[in-house]
Amino acid sequence: MELQPPRGTTDFLPPGSESLLRLYEAAHRVARLFGFRYVETPGFEATELFARSSGESSDVVRKEMYTFKDRGGRLLTLRPEATAPIVRAYLAKRHELPSPFKAYMVGAMWRYGRPQTGRTREFRQFDVETIGAPEPAADVEVIACGDRYFRELGLRGRHLELNSIGDETCRPGYRRLLIDYLEAHQGSLRDEHRDRFRENPLRVLDCKDPACRAVAAGAPKISDHLCEPCREHFDEVQRLLKEEGIEADLVPTLVRGLDYYTRTTFEWVGDRLPEGQGSLGGGGRYDGLAEILGGPPTPGVGFALGIEPRVLLALEKEGVRAGGEALDCFVIGIGEHGREAARPLVRELRSVGLRADAALGDRPLGAQMKMADRANARFALILGEREAAAGTVTVRRLADGHQDVVPQTDVAAWLATHGASE
Ligand code: HAM
Repeated sequence: MELQPPRGTTDFLPPGSESLLRLYEAAHRVARLFGFRYVETPGFEATELFARSSGESSDVVRKEMYTFKDRGGRLLTLRPEATAPIVRAYLAKRHELPSPFKAYMVGAMWRYGRPQTGRTREFRQFDVETIGAPEPAADVEVIACGDRYFRELGLRGRHLELNSIGDETCRPGYRRLLIDYLEAHQGSLRDEHRDRFRENPLRVLDCKDPACRAVAAGAPKISDHLCEPCREHFDEVQRLLKEEGIEADLVPTLVRGLDYYTRTTFEWVGDRLPEGQGSLGGGGRYDGLAEILGGPPTPGVGFALGIEPRVLLALEKEGVRAGGEALDCFVIGIGEHGREAARPLVRELRSVGLRADAALGDRPLGAQMKMADRANARFALILGEREAAAGTVTVRRLADGHQDVVPQTDVAAWLATHGASE
């Protein structure tokens, strides 16, 4: 029996699993701070949902979907992203939901590809969407929410890239200009684009290949060809971002890899992530998506952050500890009276909300110290014969071995004032 998880997936075990848990907790906290409501959609959907929304020419649809037939012959796909599922779920229940509908989700996504540092087949996203709001303020609110998330985690090495890719009024004209330009540079494009760029010329702008990038650098810029309403929208997004104190670099080639975007697109790039996998997350506006899915015209804007592996990796590279201690204290009872006193102490500590644990049976001091260490506790509380007789506890801070003697009745309060359960 193979004990390793399938290629491109990861087992999360302590202490790495605790770092991941912190990233989830911060996502829930920050999203709710901004008024986004928690949602969950199924892990798999009808394949058609992603084929229609992401676009037939996108890498996600062409190369990366986990598609299978179930026993009833239905064609299903493990969700590669959350926007289309959330919009679908919204459309199905829209009469019962507030407008705009502000939703967030945290969960696993699946994309087939060659696994490498920062790219996996199963990964986790924090996804935020505002559905039903056309205002530039909605774009800026979701960006501010992502920015707050990074600040909450203490991730500094990142910058925000911003663009507008227009809408159905101005994009067709730009598309023709871009096709003319690409035809003149066809020979310099990578194979894949050389034959297919007419299907979706914007895709070339998103290509990471150095040859395509060189061609893209000289291409006409969509920002010079926006229609008046798109220009006004984009100007207002930039003005409001400034007001929020959020800096953004204007990147005219930022078109993103999914077809549903209109107007604003943005991406957070991690400064220390590997080349080609540098995106911590991104998003944009998708004012046409609801109609693609058969619903009424409904504007929307949102983002997804790759909290695992990308954000986790970026934090590691910066030396930011995402985990913290798993336990406030490990109670060590030595000798008959120490053990007797340990049980009620653990009960009391847990009852006041401190994370406490202890050995289940009789173990020597050294073995119990090792357990405290392995449990990733902040403090070891030692109750020997001497402490049991005096009604005290020896509190040992495991990071540096510093010890204090505290009356048993005061231990919970002492721990609370010394940074436990922060
Ligand atoms: P996306 O750019 O396809 O956008 O994915 C968002 C983030 O998910 C990426 O920036 C990256 O951090 C992470 N990610 C994607 N694929 C992988 C992978 N194979 N391995 C590791 N991390 C990965 C979306 O998914 C859109 N739904 C975002 C959005 C929300 N737009 C509007 N609302």
